[in-house]
Amino acid sequence: MRIDVLSLFPEMFDGVFGASMLGRAQTNGLLDIRVHNIRDYADNKHRKTDDYPFGGGAGMVMMAQPIFDCMEAVQGGEPARRILLTPRGKLLSTERARALAKEERLILLCGHYEGVDERVNAIIDEEISIGDYVLTGGELPAMVLVDCVSRFVPGVLGSEQSAEDESHSNGLLEYPQYTRPADFRGMAVPEILQNGHHANIQKWRQEQSRLKTKQMRPILLGRFGKSEESEK
Ligand code: ADE
Repeated sequence: MRIDVLSLFPEMFDGVFGASMLGRAQTNGLLDIRVHNIRDYADNKHRKTDDYPFGGGAGMVMMAQPIFDCMEAVQGGEPARRILLTPRGKLLSTERARALAKEERLILLCGHYEGVDERVNAIIDEEISIGDYVLTGGELPAMVLVDCVSRFVPGVLGSEQSAEDESHSNGLLEYPQYTRPADFRGMAVPEILQNGHHANIQKWRQEQSRLKTKQMRPILLGRFGKSEESEK
């Protein structure tokens, strides 16, 4: 899968895309991630990429020209799903991430300042937000999206199973996990995990998942009931 990121701060991505699973997935040829500097495409003398908003108001607006030129150069006329990261977008979810992982190519545009000139929407297929809070720019959201989508690209995780096992993938939060030692500072691993049969362990985990979800995110329980796939 190829992912291009268009940003005014490309240096922000170095550590995140170079390390751990994402780094390895690129070395293994499963992901091809490229970050581009929008400023390189500004056609004015001072390489300006933002300007004052028409109609007045606080802050600056990202100009359409550098973004259009950057998008056209990077896309090169090939098909790609083009996404703008903005607090105004649809909320990112497991389902959306799983669907995006099936695309051959994504281009992510990181918004900044007070926003992006509305005419940029002409070259955007979808707007995504990572949560109902406002960050200083779309860079961190783009990293979140790339990480979250990559987990569903076959081969990126050690085993295919793990993306489906964790919190949210079945609509519930994940059950508690333990590793050795069985007793740590007087805190013991639940007996059933140490000696229980597979079926009993499964049942315990399912109960714990429901309990945790009820405590932390009760709204998810309603959705869980409605999902045929999860019920299975
Ligand atoms: N840019 C600023 N805040 C954002 C958010 N919550 N999601 C996506 N992009 C953003």
